[in-house]
Amino acid sequence: MSGAPGALDRWEDRPVEEWAKRWDVPHVEAYDELPSTNDRLRILAEAGAPNFTVVTADSQSAGKGRAGKSWESSSGMGLWISFLVRSDVEVPSALVPILVGLAATRALERLCPSLRPGIKWPNDIEVEGRKLGGILCERAGAGAVVVGVGLNLHQGIEDFDPGLKERAASMEMAGCRGVSRSEVAGELLSAARSLMDPPPASLDERLRKEVRDRDILTGRMVRTEVGVVGRAIGIAADGALLVEVEGRVQEIRAGGVMAVDNMNRFEGA
Ligand code: BTN
Repeated sequence: MSGAPGALDRWEDRPVEEWAKRWDVPHVEAYDELPSTNDRLRILAEAGAPNFTVVTADSQSAGKGRAGKSWESSSGMGLWISFLVRSDVEVPSALVPILVGLAATRALERLCPSLRPGIKWPNDIEVEGRKLGGILCERAGAGAVVVGVGLNLHQGIEDFDPGLKERAASMEMAGCRGVSRSEVAGELLSAARSLMDPPPASLDERLRKEVRDRDILTGRMVRTEVGVVGRAIGIAADGALLVEVEGRVQEIRAGGVMAVDNMNRFEGA
C-alpha cells in the first residue's frame, strides 16, 4: 500500500507511480473502491495537492452525478477518475465542463477513430443519442476545481440498471472493444493537460469550432431546467448554452437541458 489508507501500490499491472510518470502528472492515487473519487480528491486538494493530481477507483459505492444524482460505477466496467485543475485566473464555471467534454471526446476519438462522440451541454458525453459518459466539476476552494469524469467502457446493455437501459451506452456497445481504462485515462489526461494547463478564460475561435463540431444540441428545440424553451444555437465563449427564444438569444449558465424533440427527461444518468 502507498501513503493513503487503502490506496493501491499497483493498478492495471503496473506500479501506481509508473502511471504518474506515463501520464506526466504529479501524483496518482488508485483504489479498488471509494465512495467517490471526487470526494477523495477534494480532501487532497484542501491539503494542498498540486495541479493535475489524479484519483481513480475501480468502483465507487456512492458515485456522484450532476444535481445530486448518483452515478453507476460498477467494478471494472468503466473509467471513474478525478483530476485537479488549479488556476490563477477565474475560469467561468460553465466553461470547465465544456473543456473537459472536449478533452474526453478528443481522447475517445483517438482511441476509436470510428466513434463520433458528442458533447451535450452541460456535462454529458453522448454517442448515437445515448449517454456514454458524464462530467462533474466541483469547486475546491479558491482557484481549484475537482474534475470528475465517468466513462462507460465495457458494459453490455444488460449491465445497466433498468432505469438506464434505454439511454446509456458504453465504448463496447458502440463497437470499440478492447480499450483499457489506462489507455482512456492516458488520452483523457493528455487532452485535458493540453486544454486546461492552464485553463483559458474563454474559448477562442479554434476551440469554439471544435466544440461546435461535437455539440449535439445545436439546431434542436430544447427546454432548460429553469423553463426556457427555444432553439439551441451554440455554446458561447464562456461555456453558456445559447438558446434562441422568439428571436432573442438567452444565455443559459446553470441547470440541465433536454432536447424536446426526442426526450422527456432532463439529462443524465
Ligand atoms: C453526470 O453525468 O451527472 C456526472 C457524472 C460524473 C461521474 C464521475 S465518476 C468519477 C467522479 N466521481 C464521482 O463521484 N463522480 C464523477
